[in-house]
Amino acid sequence: MRILVVNGPNLRFVGQRQPDIYGSQGLDLVPEMVSQVLGEAAKNIALSFFQSNFEGALIDRLEEAWKEKTDGLVLNAGAYTHTSLALADCLAWIQVPCVEVHISNVFARDESIRHQSFMAHHCIGVIAGFGLMSYALAVQALWHHLS
Ligand code: DQA
Repeated sequence: MRILVVNGPNLRFVGQRQPDIYGSQGLDLVPEMVSQVLGEAAKNIALSFFQSNFEGALIDRLEEAWKEKTDGLVLNAGAYTHTSLALADCLAWIQVPCVEVHISNVFARDESIRHQSFMAHHCIGVIAGFGLMSYALAVQALWHHLS
């Protein structure tokens, strides 16, 4: 099963960015967490990663995922989650099963704009607030959904 993890703006330096909100560990830990959560099943999953600070580059990569017939997507669109109709339009047509992920619990944060998601409508579900473990839980959810 091929799963692509897509990270949007300001997620490259997770671990160093606002550690009080996003923790002090980097995204390079995610594959290890996936192995912990999925055990033996992790061997059947080929994970790949993409990060960009640019909306168009994220759309280009999602379109590529569709072309490559990627089985599933884990998407943390960062702030574009709350603003990007363009990314939402892309998810709407590519129809690649997608789980929306957030490191922080966006629903518990003060800024009300973070409570709204343009992505969620086009996703199987949303996992938020578990730090980097959110990514591993999203891969597990996709694995169960797709198997
Ligand atoms: C985030 C939450 C967003 O509101 C924020 O803009 C981010 C990160 C998260 O993973 O918690 O950049 O998506």
